Amino acid sequence: MANFLVTGAAGFIGSHLAKKLVIDGHQVTTIDNLSTGFIENIPSGVKFIEGNDYDPDIIAKLGEQKFDAIFHIAGQSGGMTSFDDPIYDMNSNIASTLILLDYAKRTGCNRFIYASSMSVYGDENPCPVTEESEIKPKTFYAVGKLASEHYMRIYSTFGIRCTSLRFNNTYGIGQNMQNLRQGMVSIFLAQAVNTKRIHVMGDKERFRDFTHVSDNVKACLLAAQGQEESFYNVYNVCTNRKTTCEELIAEICKHLPYSVEIEYSGSTPGDQFGIYCDYTKIQEKLGWEPTVQLESGIKEMVEWALDNKTNNT
Ligand SMILES: NC(=O)c1ccc[n+]([C@@H]2O[C@H](COP(=O)([O-])OP(=O)(O)OC[C@H]3O[C@@H](n4cnc5c(N)ncnc54)[C@H](O)[C@@H]3O)[C@@H](O)[C@H]2O)c1
Repeated sequence: MANFLVTGAAGFIGSHLAKKLVIDGHQVTTIDNLSTGFIENIPSGVKFIEGNDYDPDIIAKLGEQKFDAIFHIAGQSGGMTSFDDPIYDMNSNIASTLILLDYAKRTGCNRFIYASSMSVYGDENPCPVTEESEIKPKTFYAVGKLASEHYMRIYSTFGIRCTSLRFNNTYGIGQNMQNLRQGMVSIFLAQAVNTKRIHVMGDKERFRDFTHVSDNVKACLLAAQGQEESFYNVYNVCTNRKTTCEELIAEICKHLPYSVEIEYSGSTPGDQFGIYCDYTKIQEKLGWEPTVQLESGIKEMVEWALDNKTNNT
């Protein structure tokens, strides 16, 4: 049995990861401030410390225990939201990483896996985007992710294996359907299920690379076992598949028992027009590849959303 810290286990991706680790028989602790997460999401058996992961008093509650790996998944996770309060964004996405890396160094933890984002690339690259593509963040959120990666690069020189996973648009059961500022699939699906009307902020030709949450979890687990020559590694976690907003909405609507009105207008500050990424590097180095097709993943998620709606009405 190994001992892991998973920050953000009340959130979407963190809860899936923590659950898998508990099922596999490991001991898991989480820190979460419940800003966008829910206490009910924290899998049973996980030790929960409530508070900000950039707060030294909260970190002190870990009690100097040595973790086999730290999965730093918590974070302010909305590009648009990062413009509301850049200081909070900086604390949640940069200071937290620094304080946790420092904790790892002090306690002898030599594995650090981080939930970074494809948003670090910005908009100026031809697709599919590789890890060698130009980096030009367009939001404070993306600046935070990039800064964290650089802290990791430097901490890796102290003997900590640091892996940054650049997640793409992640979707799946358990995604927050109440937060209409975060997560393209959950935003469109929540609108469709709750109001039978989807308002898309932006063009229908905008495109993304949609990755199922179970594939993110697999990437985290493989990263925790990696034996790469370099102690600092950055990987895209993606499907190398372009899906436009219009195609995504059609895929969602296919599984709804009613028709949905769709409107395209407005825009979102800092939004990337279109991106999908290449996963050759993580495939070669860690043996990861996506396993869930968008069609089956969306079908499963729509059925879950409809069931929840029925159960809550
Ligand atoms: N979901 C995606 O499409 C996606 C894509 C790229 C990167 N990411 C990154 O993956 C991570 C998880 O994303 P998610 O979709 O599960 O988001 P989420 O909002 O569901 O989960 C984030 C969790 O972190 C907690 N949290 C936030 N700030 C905190 C802080 N300062 N201290 C303690 N807890 C804090 C929240 O309460 C929440 O439970 C985030 O870091 C996000 O930036 C997600």
